[in-house]
Amino acid sequence: MGELISMTVNGATRELDVEPRRLLVQALREDLDLTGTHVGCDTSQCGACTVHVDGKAVKSCTMLAVQADGATVTTIEGMAAPGDGGALHPLQNAFWEQHGLQCGFCTPGMIMTAADLLARSPDPTDDEIRHALHGNICRCTGYQNIVAAVRAAAVAMAEPRGAATPASGAAAPASA
Ligand code: FES
Ligand code: FES
Repeated sequence: MGELISMTVNGATRELDVEPRRLLVQALREDLDLTGTHVGCDTSQCGACTVHVDGKAVKSCTMLAVQADGATVTTIEGMAAPGDGGALHPLQNAFWEQHGLQCGFCTPGMIMTAADLLARSPDPTDDEIRHALHGNICRCTGYQNIVAAVRAAAVAMAEPRGAATPASGAAAPASA
């Protein structure tokens, strides 16, 4: 018999009966079918499982589901703006446009970590971006284009709503 928990996940209240040892990442992927949150290791090193818990980036393999009882959780599925015609988040656009991904396995975690950074530091230096993404591993890109994508997203998010150029295709700021 598990424990009944309630979380707000991507804006919706979700109630779950979970075993005390169930990880948050398991609850998200297996109980709520939010498979955009990935599992890339069993040593808490890769960052592919990163989500936001109460606005802070967290590796969801390091947290028990019961610890998220009462919390507000955002996953990569919650990043596009539902009230804006499904527009991608500026970070999602920027990763696409700056070729910040190849296989894409690390990308959800990269974007969630980067969104946390930009919420705290809207105009980060490349060093700050690299430091923030230190706990997110990418086996494909060499990181250069990931840093460029975060930088481009910061610029797009600083633009007034609707001021993005057609070439950039950047969406209006969306909440992380
Ligand atoms: Fe969580 Fe790798 S699956 S850090
Ligand atoms: Fe393949 Fe990062 S794009 S692991």
